[in-house]
Amino acid sequence: MNFDELLLKRYSCRNYIDKEVSLDDIIKIVNAGRLSPSARNCQPCEYYVIRGKEKVEQIRTELQRPGFNKFVPNVSSFIVIALNEAMYKTKLDGLMRDFTDIDTGIAVHAMALEATNIGLATCIMGGFDYDGIARLVGIKDSGRVRLVLAVGYSNDGKIQDKNERRKRMEEVVKYY
Ligand SMILES: Cc1cc2nc3c(=O)[nH]c(=O)nc-3n(C[C@H](O)[C@H](O)[C@H](O)COP(=O)(O)O)c2cc1C
Repeated sequence: MNFDELLLKRYSCRNYIDKEVSLDDIIKIVNAGRLSPSARNCQPCEYYVIRGKEKVEQIRTELQRPGFNKFVPNVSSFIVIALNEAMYKTKLDGLMRDFTDIDTGIAVHAMALEATNIGLATCIMGGFDYDGIARLVGIKDSGRVRLVLAVGYSNDGKIQDKNERRKRMEEVVKYY
């Protein structure tokens, strides 16, 4: 699959086959996050892989707690993305913006693309109980938790053309 195809193929999957993802594949996905660029190369993200039966049950509950993410019961692997303690605590002066959320977004997209590249499906999630997820992975300050990536095998047939779900080029770009 070339990169243009990959961009079109990655989508938020909310319909999974109940099938485990191998640890090798999870490592490839985390590696895509690890290799991602970050402001000043500060590499603020840490990755917590949830694959064990008990923890998977717990994270499914936490992800659905606010009434969102009802699709997670068939997902067997999750990757929690959190800021490391040092970056979370760093106080930036007036000139230096906090880019950690941007860094996280870049990393999670790379991870989702890599998952797609190796035949897996993903859904990036930001709507869940942050305290519950922090407790689950042993993070004291839930403010560090950023996103959760669901990873699994899609149970969808044909997926909608992504261009139909995006603004038209003319709406988002100006040329000077
Ligand atoms: C930062 C972020 C947070 C998101 N949070 C959720 C979420 O909590 N639950 C969910 O089902 N989808 C979530 N999504 C998925 C978006 O709804 C999805 O990316 C968007 O509708 C575009 O669809 P696509 O990913 O299929 O291209 C999130 C996406 C991003 C980038």
